[in-house]
Amino acid sequence: MAYHIEKLIDEREVIEGIKKVAEKINRDYQGKSIRLVCILKGGVFFLTELSKYLEGNITIDFMSVSSYGAGTVSSGIVKIIKDLDESIEGENVIVIEDIVDTGNTLSYLLELLRDRKPASVKLCTLLDKPSRRTKDIQADYVAFTIPDKFVVGFGLDYDQCYRNLPYVGVVEFDD
Ligand code: IMP
Ligand code: MG
Repeated sequence: MAYHIEKLIDEREVIEGIKKVAEKINRDYQGKSIRLVCILKGGVFFLTELSKYLEGNITIDFMSVSSYGAGTVSSGIVKIIKDLDESIEGENVIVIEDIVDTGNTLSYLLELLRDRKPASVKLCTLLDKPSRRTKDIQADYVAFTIPDKFVVGFGLDYDQCYRNLPYVGVVEFDD
């Protein structure tokens, strides 16, 4: 099906939104050590931008889970593809996600991380699509709340493409 990408949040706006989130985190953590747990692959672009503005000792680790197939609708099944390299016991963990949509992925993941006895776990997402939520999940830090549209760019993909776009755009299907 033919489609095009409509710009939703431009490059400058994305960076400004991320800086504001970093300021909030800096205020809340006051230079404490933070373990950023980035959810691959979508969270990577947000992680690298956000972490530039964070203070204190920042360490990073990665986890890869899959909840979507090739389409635009969640399958509801969460699978761990790659686990963390390091223990998070006693750590102040902030999970870095590209988007919270239904909340399926995060409700599963947050429970799994809490079982590993971190000092704290918070959720930080670039985008929040609250209208689609089916699980009781709320992010502690949200850069942008967006309407119920399928978006790409700044880490988000459509069939693995467009993650590299420096802005966030909506995939509009032409009919
Ligand atoms: P959830 O489990 O439904 O909250 O979905 C979380 C994952 O679905 C995200 O980490 C994304 O990888 C993917 N996802 C959800 N909405 C979108 C979107 O609009 N564009 C691209 N990926 C999305
Ligand atoms: Mg994805």
